[in-house]
Amino acid sequence: MSKERVSRRQFLNYTLTGVGGFMAAGMLMPMVRFAVDPVLKGEAAGDFIATKQKVSELTDEPVRVDFTFKQKDAWYESEVTNTAWVYKDGDKIVALSPICKHLGCTVGWNTNKEHPNQFFCPCHYGRYEKDGTNIPGTPPLAPLDEYPYKEKGGFLYLGKAEPRKEA
Ligand code: FES
Repeated sequence: MSKERVSRRQFLNYTLTGVGGFMAAGMLMPMVRFAVDPVLKGEAAGDFIATKQKVSELTDEPVRVDFTFKQKDAWYESEVTNTAWVYKDGDKIVALSPICKHLGCTVGWNTNKEHPNQFFCPCHYGRYEKDGTNIPGTPPLAPLDEYPYKEKGGFLYLGKAEPRKEA
């Protein structure tokens, strides 16, 4: 028989440490999972959202396309409606964000009679060309963001608006 006997004190220490550790792990694990879960899942980046816009009905005149989707912000899920100004440029579709690059107001197409066929921001008179390029001398310093797009079943799908890449 082994001479190394465990004293009563040691036995109690081991037992209490073991039980305490087990309980602490039991309490901490759900908290850690709760905190990390949304991060592990990631966001559905790169997903394209269906719109009700038929691609065949698009012309070279920008039209307003509203589209709704569910957005999950960590634990909070909400329904969000976004807007795009969409037109056809030859074979290509151009889908522009309506968010002004100055201070974030909403731009409209052809709403300023003095400057027809431009995007106009009523907040500080920002103006953009039809392709989204900001007009020098007006407050915005960058072109409108552009949505990547896809066509599926004849309908327009839009991705996440991104700053325009300079050619
Ligand atoms: S927010 Fe559009 S011009 Fe200022």
